[in-house]
Amino acid sequence: LEAALQAKPLAGRSVLITAGPTFEPIDPVRGLTNRSSGKMGFAIARAAREAGAEVTLIAGPVHLDTPRGVRRVDVQTALQMHEAVLSQAAQFDVFVATAAVADWRPAQLTEHKIKKKAGDKAAPSFELTENPDILADVSALSATAGQRPFCVGFAAESQDLLKHAREKLVRKKLPLIVANLGPATFGRDDNALLLVDAQGERELPQDDKLNLARELVQEIARRLPANL
Ligand code: CTP
Ligand code: CA
Repeated sequence: LEAALQAKPLAGRSVLITAGPTFEPIDPVRGLTNRSSGKMGFAIARAAREAGAEVTLIAGPVHLDTPRGVRRVDVQTALQMHEAVLSQAAQFDVFVATAAVADWRPAQLTEHKIKKKAGDKAAPSFELTENPDILADVSALSATAGQRPFCVGFAAESQDLLKHAREKLVRKKLPLIVANLGPATFGRDDNALLLVDAQGERELPQDDKLNLARELVQEIARRLPANL
């Protein structure tokens, strides 16, 4: 029994994961997005499934195959991702937010393609409006619903990694945040991670994203309250 529990530490648990970028349309042919490949989130989905969990993956626009046994919902925009997550998050034991959610979207959607105007060299300008914070909203929900789901955030920073990761841990009231240590991790197959919680830090050194995902899943499983 001990060995079986070791091998499948998330048996009987459910895990919801966001992955990839979001795409925020400007007009019917253009939009704002970012360079997230979704690889880390898809690797975590696969690792959580291997660990025995029932896994739902909410994916932005990415070119990746769905890991075997994982339920996948595709979305484009941050608002769609927010709706897809918040409508079911309370039913999950764990929420892992790996998505690089666009922080802002164009305030107005232009119905037709924006055209250049002959003789007018002035570039168009757009007003942006802030997207909802999916992770913070799920975390607030878990605070009122007795610690469920257990929320894991990711932090993408270009400087002062640990300081910013700690700030996010506190601001979003998370039990655990994962900081990307690897330089320019977007799209790469490997990475290095720094796990940050109230107790301290633990580094997961440079490795394949799937190996890192498997270690992270073990760390999450260890932290889950038995009675969640
Ligand atoms: N996140 C989210 N919804 C958003 C923005 C971020 O769910 N609208 C989640 C990300 O998936 C990640 C964590 O919050 O798990 C931190 O994202 P990050 O972009 O690093 O932080 P922000 O809070 O957006 O702050 P900033 O981009 O200014 O550093
Ligand atoms: Ca952000």
